[in-house]
Amino acid sequence: MWNLILGLLVSFYIGSCSNDSGSSSAAAVATTTSVTDTTTTTSVTETTTTTTTTLTYAHDIAPILSSHCMTCHNGPDSSSHIDLSTYSSMMIFVTANDSANSVLYQQVNTNAMPLGGPALSAANKTKIQNWIDAGADE
Ligand code: HEC
Repeated sequence: MWNLILGLLVSFYIGSCSNDSGSSSAAAVATTTSVTDTTTTTSVTETTTTTTTTLTYAHDIAPILSSHCMTCHNGPDSSSHIDLSTYSSMMIFVTANDSANSVLYQQVNTNAMPLGGPALSAANKTKIQNWIDAGADE
């Protein structure tokens, strides 16, 4: 008689255990869905940040000089003897916040440089002008 009651209790207990594990896997699916939502929100925030980035020498100007000026300005011993290969040596030809009085901008804006051409694109000239007028950050 006690064996029968104990047997019923045990089988009832096992039955409720398997019900429990069934509902906890349903909860795991719900958690995965909310992680996906969080990822979407983060990438929207990153797009906004990119739009407000300031122009810098390292990110915006060095690549232009590197592809259009380094054949003649790559160090103090270059053919022109004018070094535009580092921020500090190039800043001799830049007056921060004043592109009109910056020799570097005058040279590219009048197409005097690159010597022998081809001239910089309008987009690259504007980028150099805006960078100088925003403070010529390194
Ligand atoms: C084919 C060679 C050559 C290329 C390419 C070249 N330059 Fe020059 N650059 C020279 C020479 C030579 C001089 C010095 C003699 C002169 O002023 O004509 C000079 C002088 C300069 C000066 C000093 C001008 C002054 O009056 O003191 C600046 C600034 C300059 N270059 C900027 C640039 C920039 C910016 C680029 C790229 C967009 C560039 N150069 C590309 C050959 C070159």
